[in-house]
Amino acid sequence: MKTGIDRISFYSSRYYLDLKTLAEARGTDPAKYYTGIGQEKMAIPPPDEDIVTMAASAALPIIEAEGRDNIELLALGTESGIDQSKAAGLFVHGLLGLPARCRVVEMKEACYGGTAGLQMALAMVQRNPGSKALVIGADIARYDLGSPGEATQGCGAVAMLITANPRIMTVEPEAGIFSDDIMDFWRPNYRSQALVDGKYSTRVYLNALADTWGQYTTITGRGYGDIDRFCYHLPFTRIAEKAQERLAKSAGIKPDDETLEQVLRRSLVYNRITGNSYAASLYVGLNSLLDNDDGDLGGKRVGMYSYGSGCVAEYFSGIIEPGYREQLFTGRHRDMLDDRTELTFRQYEDMFTLNFPTDGGEHTFAQYRTGPFRLAGVEQHKRIYKRAE
Ligand code: COA
Repeated sequence: MKTGIDRISFYSSRYYLDLKTLAEARGTDPAKYYTGIGQEKMAIPPPDEDIVTMAASAALPIIEAEGRDNIELLALGTESGIDQSKAAGLFVHGLLGLPARCRVVEMKEACYGGTAGLQMALAMVQRNPGSKALVIGADIARYDLGSPGEATQGCGAVAMLITANPRIMTVEPEAGIFSDDIMDFWRPNYRSQALVDGKYSTRVYLNALADTWGQYTTITGRGYGDIDRFCYHLPFTRIAEKAQERLAKSAGIKPDDETLEQVLRRSLVYNRITGNSYAASLYVGLNSLLDNDDGDLGGKRVGMYSYGSGCVAEYFSGIIEPGYREQLFTGRHRDMLDDRTELTFRQYEDMFTLNFPTDGGEHTFAQYRTGPFRLAGVEQHKRIYKRAE
């Protein structure tokens, strides 16, 4: 029986900082960001937006289109958790009005959390084909101001409905898997900004790709030429080009610019202008590919590389279903990205340094531009979410 992605929807903040503005403030050549790391803009969440509002905003179009019946799992992958105990997905469950007969869990392994949720969902649907799962990756990438990671910040969420006989992508069962106990990127409980050894992390990302790709090709008997499109975890888009060159080289191929444009670059369009969204980022790439590839991808195989620092990596693939385009929310995504507000450097720093109240008092948050849901305030250490007006 086929199982996979039946619907996919992306949401990101309505605010962004252009990396030219960051470059000017930090005394850096903008080409380092635009060309060197392949990023143009980073999405910045306003104070009344967090992973819960982004996750619910990503999932709402799916619920409106498909209803709530038989959703028996909500798995939310994130490393920007809002509570040490309660799963953030429970707030999303409430905002979306999902049935009580639904398992709700939070998946954490840095940027791998979304894939962990996807694999759990696929297993559940295989065992019970009448059930459906909502898998969401949602994150806010934050590094210290002025640090090398700063230009690779961003935020976003991707929601996917996982079903039997999916209408967008059947996920194939084979996978290369790699785990190792390392410190390339981490965020201790007492910090709200991640720490990263960026150069080391990039090396491990590429080495784990070689390992998982090697396993994948051995298990499946497939090679580089059997993959029609490539999606990668995207801390910044330039890394995907390096990864692509690495895979091509292992097959004795040097891809030219035209080939890269065709097999890779449509998957980078959204990330270039929203930035890293950790657990969501691979799936932002997939959604970008589906929305922006002009050709008919029906019947094509997409290679998927998931990497979470710390680290866990997985290489797997899927086949795009004929007629997939009718299931996409392309117009909605384009409207959202075309209608964002650019921040000044001062506004960006003010949003970044705003402290979340921790005194247990009653606080109401100013209303910024958000999606359909917003974080209205906090009261007795409880977050209050509302429908945005
Ligand atoms: N014009 C064009 N390219 C330029 C440039 C310029 N003026 N200045 C620098 N570059 C290039 C560099 O050559 C380099 O490219 P290369 O890696 O292909 O050699 C790239 O831009 C980055 O420059 P570098 O000096 O290495 O930047 P950095 O020390 O500021 O670090 C990262 C870059 C990506 C390592 C850093 O942003 C980071 O740590 N990001 C977080 C990574 C992450 O999220 N990892 C965890 C999950 S995988």
